[in-house]
Amino acid sequence: MEPDDTKLQFDDDGNLRHLLSLRDFDATLLTRLMDEAEAYLTAPGALPARNHSLAGRTVGNLFFEPSTRTRASFDLAGRRLGADVLNLDVNTSSRKKGESILDTIYTLEAMQVDIMVVRDASDGVPAYIARHVKDHVSVLNAGESDVSHPTQGLLDLLTMRQHNPDFGNLAVAIVGDIQHSRVAMSASEALRAMGVGELRLISPPALIPDASRFPGAVIVDNLADGLRDADVVMALRIQRERIGNLDGIPGIDEYFANYGISHESMKLAKPDAIVMHPGPMNRGIEIEGTLADGPRSVIAKQVTNGVAIRMAVLSRIGKMMSAQ
Ligand code: CP
Repeated sequence: MEPDDTKLQFDDDGNLRHLLSLRDFDATLLTRLMDEAEAYLTAPGALPARNHSLAGRTVGNLFFEPSTRTRASFDLAGRRLGADVLNLDVNTSSRKKGESILDTIYTLEAMQVDIMVVRDASDGVPAYIARHVKDHVSVLNAGESDVSHPTQGLLDLLTMRQHNPDFGNLAVAIVGDIQHSRVAMSASEALRAMGVGELRLISPPALIPDASRFPGAVIVDNLADGLRDADVVMALRIQRERIGNLDGIPGIDEYFANYGISHESMKLAKPDAIVMHPGPMNRGIEIEGTLADGPRSVIAKQVTNGVAIRMAVLSRIGKMMSAQ
């Protein structure tokens, strides 16, 4: 995001207009969004929450990179709020024939798509689109290069709050390819705003991030140092698709031995520490399969929370649109 993009995210009354990043979110707004999302959670086996807050609106899912969780949950969230949802199949869209991204956007605008949900492998695409859409259209970032994944950050924050709402006393350890992780970036922005007690980022030396991107975080390359007495442990996938040169990146066995989150390595964390993973998971590489499926894992909860968070964001955008 450019410095001016802060103004792009919020309208003159401070309402969320586009969701581009969590960089400018404060604890009050984060807490409100989490509270609103909680209201959309229902008991397992019960019918999902529904309302008509987006009735008559159209949500367009434009995923120019693969996705399972984010795309499916925006789709369900939009439908459960009464919107029409368009899932553009990028592989068969006219972008494959050389149509520019803006021409794709203008085409969807002409079909009265009100909310564009965008995932792209390049930096700055959601903000670029937000600068070009009409005043009544909103853009939601659904994953931008290694820069930002704001709804993932929100759902991760909510999942941590469900474990322990006292963020000031929470030690959060994020393990893996921090350098290329938009998940780590958005989680760190959200946790910083909530005044997290300690954020530890653990990476192999070749994947250590630039510290200036993660103010306040402790960055280490030793798993034991990072996991000791942690309350929350989040494993991340190595983002091979974003790494140009794989020199120095550990192979699978070496990675699991030194950075894998396993029953064994979790003995270093607090006895009640939770295990998170944003997905997609590579079992046996960054996380032991039976740990991911076991009682300490809140990975399925993250997915459930993802629908609720996206309903909260969409509903808030819908209210802003109705007030215009
Ligand atoms: N966590 C996440 O963004 O998953 P998807 O790539 O499946 O959307």
